[in-house]
Amino acid sequence: MTDTAFQQCMNPACGATYAIEQVHVACERCGSLLDVRYDWNKLPRLKSLRFFEHRWSTKGTAAEGRADFSGVWRFRELLPFYRAEEDIVSIGEGRTVLQQADILASHFGIKPGKLLLQYEGLNPSGSFKDNGMTAAFTHARLVGARRVACASTGNTSASLAMFASLSEMQGVVFIGSGKISVGKLSQALDYGALTLQIQGDFDACLRRVRQIAVDAPEMGIYLMNSVNPFRLEGQKSIMYRILEARDWETPDWIIVPGGNLGNCSAFGKAFAELQELGLIKKIPRLAIINAAGANTLYTLFKQGVTWKDNWYDATAVQKHYAVLAEQDYHAHTVASAIEIGHPVNLPKALRALSIMNGVVEEVTDEEILEHRAMVARWGFGCEPASAASVAGLRRLLDKQVISPDESVVCILTGHELKDPNVTVKYHTGIDMKAAQDTAPRSEPHGKYVNRPIPVEDSLEAIITAMGGDPKLATNRRK
Ligand code: F0G
Repeated sequence: MTDTAFQQCMNPACGATYAIEQVHVACERCGSLLDVRYDWNKLPRLKSLRFFEHRWSTKGTAAEGRADFSGVWRFRELLPFYRAEEDIVSIGEGRTVLQQADILASHFGIKPGKLLLQYEGLNPSGSFKDNGMTAAFTHARLVGARRVACASTGNTSASLAMFASLSEMQGVVFIGSGKISVGKLSQALDYGALTLQIQGDFDACLRRVRQIAVDAPEMGIYLMNSVNPFRLEGQKSIMYRILEARDWETPDWIIVPGGNLGNCSAFGKAFAELQELGLIKKIPRLAIINAAGANTLYTLFKQGVTWKDNWYDATAVQKHYAVLAEQDYHAHTVASAIEIGHPVNLPKALRALSIMNGVVEEVTDEEILEHRAMVARWGFGCEPASAASVAGLRRLLDKQVISPDESVVCILTGHELKDPNVTVKYHTGIDMKAAQDTAPRSEPHGKYVNRPIPVEDSLEAIITAMGGDPKLATNRRK
């Protein structure tokens, strides 16, 4: 399979290619993000998306049956970078639901049948991240990785930890101390990942884990953040499932919360490829919703930073970051999952906005909390970041960017139980998180206790906490 797939730098001025078997966190030549690309002409030609329908009836323990059972791999002809079905690492991800949310729709003045909610919280680890993790773990196994790591606002770490324990790799997660919800922290601990609570935010954690992956190869880290292009291959499947649930009819709009901007980037790639393959007639429009307290994409897009001539104004982005650094700006929002100031997939998100004729909107914490409560009241519930998509819909209806006649799919990225503190506080006014901070502690003593390790934000301290030689950090950026 792999001779028909390769990795390629997304910068057309560079265009460097790498074999699927290679591991890079960025282009070696120019530092840009990589894409997974396919030589579709050499692959069996798909005549129609209906081809995938027969897989619903396949079950069983054979490799083919397990792949068919997965909501990601039943579309495997659209992400054909793996070697053989036997090599696919799957935990039964992607069996999610597209709910027709008519009661909720009536509160927006939207006609029945026009508002749909894609519940990615119904994945095994409770968020959309499992879609990407199955693909990245399949690649990690292909290259023989033993230790996988990520920085996370919580869901990536939960998903990584679950996949790592089930595929017998060591999982290491970097989380900002006090920055992630208790539901997500409990998952990383429970699934046995080495959990490093770094004194910093997500942006600091991502900087460190990338540094270690690149500058300390002795640590043998395979990086699982969404700079890993294989993650995005799996996340394309969210779009395939939406089309499938609508009998292959494209909706008018897809609305998604934007954090590190991997998900929206994957959506753009999915539709560009489906169009290239002649499998769809129409591409839906994309709306990416930032929290107002973490609105880098919104700000830049509004300033006119867009995808033009296959590239973007990188200087304007650098200038923006320089101003933020000068102001010592840190993202802050109740939607901790998208509390990100430096979204690494920004160029790919701009590309997706161009492919899908997209818009960017921002919503306040209050709007997020109010719309999260509405989804819970008239749906299956979701975590705060996910509700940004529904709050964004309200804004875009008010601004008449979206009309109430159009069909809209909001992606609900994470399960309601990921962040119960926010829910309890909304309904009772009691801040459970603050109560936990002052609660008396006892020594944990169970056989499977896996304590989080507090670590200062320095390479030396982190490498030591991972059981490595702190000297590895000397002569390297601190
Ligand atoms: N919604 C939820 C629930 C998330 O956990 C995330 C990202 C997003 C939306 C944004 O998706 O990054 O692809 O734009 N969470 C990451 C994490 C950053 O570490 O779990 P994105």
